[in-house]
Amino acid sequence: MAIVIIRQDGKIPIWQEALKKAAPQIVVYSYLEPHPKEEIIMALVWKHPKGQLMDYPNLECIACSGAGVDFIFEDMERPKALPITRVVDTMLAKDMSEHVIAVIFSYLKYLGHYRVDQMRKIWKPMQYRRIKDFKVGILGFGALGSVLAEDLVRFGFRVQGWSKSTKSLENIESFAGLDQLSAFLATTEILVCLLPLTDDTVGILNASLFEQLPKGAYIINVARGGHVVDADLIEYLENGHLSGACLDVFHEEPLPTDHPFWEHDKIHMTPHYASVSDTESVVPQIIENFRRLQRGEPLLNVVSKEKGY
Ligand code: GLV
Repeated sequence: MAIVIIRQDGKIPIWQEALKKAAPQIVVYSYLEPHPKEEIIMALVWKHPKGQLMDYPNLECIACSGAGVDFIFEDMERPKALPITRVVDTMLAKDMSEHVIAVIFSYLKYLGHYRVDQMRKIWKPMQYRRIKDFKVGILGFGALGSVLAEDLVRFGFRVQGWSKSTKSLENIESFAGLDQLSAFLATTEILVCLLPLTDDTVGILNASLFEQLPKGAYIINVARGGHVVDADLIEYLENGHLSGACLDVFHEEPLPTDHPFWEHDKIHMTPHYASVSDTESVVPQIIENFRRLQRGEPLLNVVSKEKGY
């Protein structure tokens, strides 16, 4: 019984090393080297080539090495009956929270604006903004969103969250379902998208949603590029309804060099780096699930195929 790692970002050796260090007795192959396919019971994947999972006749589990599993559901040629697991990790959640908080403070204190002024040798202080001036709304209130919400509250932000079902977190207003989306948007000045990408959420950051935000709202997308209708975002930045956007994820990554986001003065971009699974932190839960598979026990962090996350 063995694990195969399937990913195309050059990080197979790092994952192999981390697994070997934590559990030297477990056999871990790279899908790029010759390996006995019938031995594989777990595939540890990240944006694997579509159809690749069909190569393993005894596969029992598709283990995603990140939090978002949308790319697995997009692979129509996968063994559909198999359980899919995802990463739920404190470090992943904290990394995400730190990134979003950094973006919010940069926005609040006009750091991007002053950088541009500096390049032009312009000295022009503005009235600065304070934490109390903003209500942050988090779309997607799961493992990542709730940690961010609690951290923001500790800084003194007013925070509200929107999700499928109502969540109860201290000092954070919870909105749930499509019925309450408008009320949530109407009072959100900084909108953070942390939703899973599913049939229900694809394209959710569109003109109709932007229209319901207060004028001057700021968008932070750290979930998936598929949540955004790019043309609508540009339209709402250009008509002045939105004050700016900070994007970490895109429909196509790397973002093609001719995409209008690159040169847009109201868009800040980072290269899908807000929160990336740390191998040492994540490997124990992969090993635990491998052992559970061997013992025939229920797996941890199993994705709901109905919900898509
Ligand atoms: C990163 O995008 C992840 O889903 O873990």
